[in-house]
Amino acid sequence: MSDPEPAAARALDERALQSLVIELREASLRSGRRLRDVLGEVLPQRELGAADRRLAARRCYRVLQQERRLDFALEGAIRGRGPGRSPPLELREAARYVAALLLDGEIDVDEAGRRLPRIDWSFVAEAELRIARARDADTRFGLTWSIPDWLAARFRAEFGDEAAAIAASLNEEPPLTLRANLLKVASREALAHALAEEGVPTRPTAFAPHGLVALGAITLFSSRAFQSGAFEQQDEASQLGCLVVAPPPRGRVLDACAGAGGKTLALSAALANQGEVLAIDPNERRLASLVERRRRAGTANVRSLAVAEDSWPDAVTSFARSADRILLDVPCSGIGSWRRRPDARWSLRPSSLENLQATQAMLLDRALACLAPGARLVYSTCTLFADENERQVERVLARDATLELVRVAEILGTAAAAPITDASGTVLRLLPHRHATDGFFAAVIRRRRR
Ligand SMILES: C[S@@+](CC[C@H](N)C(=O)[O-])C[C@H]1O[C@@H](n2cnc3c(N)ncnc32)[C@H](O)[C@@H]1O
Repeated sequence: MSDPEPAAARALDERALQSLVIELREASLRSGRRLRDVLGEVLPQRELGAADRRLAARRCYRVLQQERRLDFALEGAIRGRGPGRSPPLELREAARYVAALLLDGEIDVDEAGRRLPRIDWSFVAEAELRIARARDADTRFGLTWSIPDWLAARFRAEFGDEAAAIAASLNEEPPLTLRANLLKVASREALAHALAEEGVPTRPTAFAPHGLVALGAITLFSSRAFQSGAFEQQDEASQLGCLVVAPPPRGRVLDACAGAGGKTLALSAALANQGEVLAIDPNERRLASLVERRRRAGTANVRSLAVAEDSWPDAVTSFARSADRILLDVPCSGIGSWRRRPDARWSLRPSSLENLQATQAMLLDRALACLAPGARLVYSTCTLFADENERQVERVLARDATLELVRVAEILGTAAAAPITDASGTVLRLLPHRHATDGFFAAVIRRRRR
């Protein structure tokens, strides 16, 4: 589902590209820093065109996404190494890189041998057969999609027939999606026009009304449009999550897990810079980056405040009690954003999932305790697991008869809601293999007026 790459001029030949990817991966592995951070730091310093930069990043991510499958394919294939003796990092990274090209059918066994002679590439090429022979179904699934067995078991149990399609789509390259900032441009069409003048082709997003997908290899963030605040980078799913908040004109909104403020800025624009958005988060560093983003975006109706994890100060509680909307974009397992953070699958543990669910329940209880009659709370996550989504919402609805769900169809209209909601049109449910967005869930809870 990735957008096609225009035939932009490339300067790096395959060998140079291979060396660069291995260098970048090694830098990340040796320093323990996230690949994204290493790419962001190193690539701009190289004299590379946008097409080469993007291809190098894409290849780095491809290896990262497939690590488990590649290591399985290479096990026992490196000549002169006894079982259990792991190869030095440089050889391992070169082997992973070439194995990824081989298993994806981009090169054949002969070419793999020319690139890296010390490996039995015919054996590597048969990895799929060996995976198919693995006795345990979760292991077969985990090896195929490069996820740990416990998550493979969870995917298979929870997503059934769709599990493989979901896992495959989470390993795809995400589109570069922008939200037109209506505080600075009249419409997404106006933004598309401005970007086209700077040589950046785009297409409209399928579901979000203010979104554009930037096409091809481009240096977007040095564009005049970006500097002037005409857009923010924001996945389409996240844009839709903000859309269902739908604050009334001049409304008051509490963004209760604001992070770096991606959704805060969209809410500010939805209010046309009127009313007020209070953005809170315990993570001061994330919240601090909102200051610069706010300035560029031209928002004048946002306040931000760092809060403790376990309670809100009185000022926040009283704001929440008079707020028209509370957005609770809770910390979650983040399955739905694996396209952007492929390594997250390895840091997740069954116990961290339990802790996250407890935090989600605690935050939901705290926010609902402040929700005024007639006001709405939007509970959102970027995960696909029901325990973090539907189950959390069902729990609070079951115990409090003054709460009800507002159907997304009621907010966006039946036609707009139909393709992005569950079958009954009640909750927002975005799936990467169906919508080509991040995986995302949002439910709108209203407290009935007495
Ligand atoms: C999914 S992220 C929010 C992303 C943000 N809304 C955006 O659109 O960019 C969840 C946020 O919840 C915050 N968080 C973690 N524990 C929290 C707690 N106990 N109370 C409030 N926020 C918490 C995290 O710091 C994190 O920024």
